[in-house]
Amino acid sequence: MPTAKLILDDTTVELPVIVGTEGERAIDIRKLRAQTGYITYDPGLANTGSCQSSITFIDGEAGVLRYRGYAIEDLVEHSSFVEVCYLLIYGELPTRAQLEQFQDRLTHHSLLHEDMKKFFEGYPPSAHPMSVLSAMVASLSTYYPDSTDPEITELNMIRLLAKLKTIAAFSYKKSIGQPYIYPRNDLSYTADFLHMMFAVPSEPYEVPPLFEKVLDVLLILHADHEQNCSTSTVRMVGSSGADLFASISAGISALSGPLHGGANQAVIQMLEAIREDGGNYQKYLEKAKDPNDPFRLMGFGHRVYKNFDPRARLIKKLVDQVFNEMGINDPLLEIAQKLEEAALKDEYFIERKLYPNIDFYSGILYRAMGIPTNMYTVLFAMGRLPGWIAQWKEMREDPHTRIYRPRQIYQGSTHRPYVPIDQRG
Ligand code: ACO
Repeated sequence: MPTAKLILDDTTVELPVIVGTEGERAIDIRKLRAQTGYITYDPGLANTGSCQSSITFIDGEAGVLRYRGYAIEDLVEHSSFVEVCYLLIYGELPTRAQLEQFQDRLTHHSLLHEDMKKFFEGYPPSAHPMSVLSAMVASLSTYYPDSTDPEITELNMIRLLAKLKTIAAFSYKKSIGQPYIYPRNDLSYTADFLHMMFAVPSEPYEVPPLFEKVLDVLLILHADHEQNCSTSTVRMVGSSGADLFASISAGISALSGPLHGGANQAVIQMLEAIREDGGNYQKYLEKAKDPNDPFRLMGFGHRVYKNFDPRARLIKKLVDQVFNEMGINDPLLEIAQKLEEAALKDEYFIERKLYPNIDFYSGILYRAMGIPTNMYTVLFAMGRLPGWIAQWKEMREDPHTRIYRPRQIYQGSTHRPYVPIDQRG
């Protein structure tokens, strides 16, 4: 086995090297502090492998993303979101019988306990649906407590996958004051969500097949992305032994931030602001480059991708298809295209390898489907759910899992005597 040598205070320490199946090399520092008294310093954990995982592979330099070894390009073309959920959670593509059974379970667990409807009543209509989603998922553990029985844990995974779309749609209906639409067992997972979002009891509503297909692809593209901020949150919370619902509720909260999943909403808000400002995208490009201006080009840049985000490439293709098929124009799309073109030619973005990420064009598609802006990040969460579940399950089953407990380098005051209150000043 290869080793790395570290020279510290005239002593050479040998550290084992771990090599992943795709060639990722890591220095195993698990015994570093015990052997040397040193820790490592890595804010944002950009150089830290927090686990060994067999779920998702990313090559950020080459722009490659695979779930359980399957390229996302192939999954988008041949698979469905439900099949990808199965693949991520159980590790293999299902047989037809397995898929039918899985689909059936997701369908038959999609109702919420009637009492849960009362929770929605308590939130103000202005509540952000992501806050409601996180709170409602945490509430599920009050109905479906954790257990040491693996069958119950597995059932809770199914319940969560089945119910998240119902919670998401109910939170939207509540925010616009419309009656809740219950799940329909004759519809696919994706069509059922769209039906619960857009149907009203007073007239029939048919889910447009194009929207069903587009949303299914978007959900597949969001389904997992290895150890990103929200997934690491799910694993961190779960590492204490917290249950599935508590861990995933924390992941939803992590996803809500504008530097993570909240970016899809922020992109559209940025494009709207540019339009209202007369379409002067160059001005916003300059703002993004100004080190004294906190403004960033939303939907650009990524911790891992130093090349085109492969998901953004697929979404861009989908935008062209959908806009052609629907015969629509969106002024925000034109601004986005010009902004992207200008940024990709700009030395600042080239030097820093900043490319469009998944969030840059996804909002344009959601808009075309009539999905309101504050639901974009909820859709990201719906897509990411199978990934979070798979990662939580892997963490629980991994004998190497330890509670997440990083160290720090203390830089505060050293010991000082306590000063009584009347002597302070
Ligand atoms: N606009 C302008 N400059 C940028 C941007 C951007 N969108 N992103 C990074 N930079 C610059 C930084 O200012 C920094 O410049 P410097 O070296 O001169 O200081 C350099 O590029 C490196 O950026 P970091 O912030 O160090 O990169 P990090 O990996 O920590 O952050 C992140 C990645 C958060 C995605 C960042 O690129 C960003 O804020 N992007 C905009 C928000 C966004 O789109 N988030 C969605 C990410 S994808 C997802 O979560 C699904």
